[in-house]
Amino acid sequence: MVEVEVCVGSSCFLRGSQEVVKAFQHLIEQNCPGQAVLKGSFCMGQCTEGVTVKIQGRQFCCVTPQDVPELFEKYILPHIG
Ligand code: FES
Repeated sequence: MVEVEVCVGSSCFLRGSQEVVKAFQHLIEQNCPGQAVLKGSFCMGQCTEGVTVKIQGRQFCCVTPQDVPELFEKYILPHIG
């Protein structure tokens, strides 16, 4: 099970973390339902950098919904199946 955490702390929330969550949700449902789990996380201490995402313990900053497909392909799909 691949674990994807999206920061929903106040700073990331204001920068659109909900849209990032939706983008991940959509791709997971389409490609690997039940094989990746999406979680909200508290502040990860990168507030000035934009929305923070953690995939399998690896942290990514400044994530926008446009970045999600690439992150999905590179860091989630290889761990599926
Ligand atoms: S609010 Fe997201 S890293 Fe701080």
